[in-house]
Amino acid sequence: MAQYSLEDAIDRCSRVRKDIMKVISTERSQVLATQLAKVLKTSIVDVRFSRFPDGELFLEAGSLDEQMIIVGSVVDNDALVQLVLLIDACEGSENRLVLPYMAYARQDKKFRPGEPVSARAIAAMLSRGVSDVTTVNIHDTDVLRHFSVPARNISLATDLGSCIKTFDLDNPLILAPDDGALAFARDVASSGNWDCDHLEKTRLSGEKVTMEPKQLCAASRPVVIVDDIISTGGTIATAAGMLYSQGATDVYAACVHGVLTGGAYVRLIAGGVRDVICSNTIERGCSRISAAERIALSLGK
Ligand code: R5P
Repeated sequence: MAQYSLEDAIDRCSRVRKDIMKVISTERSQVLATQLAKVLKTSIVDVRFSRFPDGELFLEAGSLDEQMIIVGSVVDNDALVQLVLLIDACEGSENRLVLPYMAYARQDKKFRPGEPVSARAIAAMLSRGVSDVTTVNIHDTDVLRHFSVPARNISLATDLGSCIKTFDLDNPLILAPDDGALAFARDVASSGNWDCDHLEKTRLSGEKVTMEPKQLCAASRPVVIVDDIISTGGTIATAAGMLYSQGATDVYAACVHGVLTGGAYVRLIAGGVRDVICSNTIERGCSRISAAERIALSLGK
């Protein structure tokens, strides 16, 4: 079978119009956006980000093109406002939005009366002024229906698998922290033909909860806990301690979106997790996987 390089694949992408296209990004996605521009062999637009004395955000974009690939992870409220302003500044171009991480996606329903469907509100805000949206491992693909333009989601499961291979682990067990994350963990595990399971919580008393793999045994083997998001790191830190007490030799953590709030990275390492890996959908010191190539390919489809 003929082998095509990534470059060939992108060249054959009919929707990638390099001659009239540029990439532009918000402040918090500048590394990923620059990598994306490089993969697409197009240029990235210089943007000056500033703030008025009263705290309002402002930006000034350089020269735009007919088609703009706008890259912006919503990692916090300022990043959201910057992205809305950037889309507005690109008025007059055909704008395609790449949303590598979408905060607020976890509030995807009214859990109690009076609550907002935050994911719907954010999706509505980001649909204005763009022709389509690409998300990366969005918390739940149901959120895509809240965009009023075509929206698709891509997964970095295989890329996480490739990164885990570099650890050269002997017979690792890939674990999802709960059954909701099992499908993603299975996708990661299949790239190395590794065993996969999910953790199950058992409540022993009012305060005491135990967590162990539902079917497989973690004893005498390395374990990699994989999740879409590591936020406070609480779930994985608790699980790591329990897995060590069940005999796991080493525990690693891998996720797509390293939110890593409130000192989560340190909490995990201090809790015995050997290494924490994440992608650059949120740009972090431990971002070892770039979403650029997979985004470039998806833009052509
Ligand atoms: C939850 O729905 C997500 O998939 C993650 O499991 C969660 O955000 C992890 O949170 P934390 O790191 O705070 O335990």
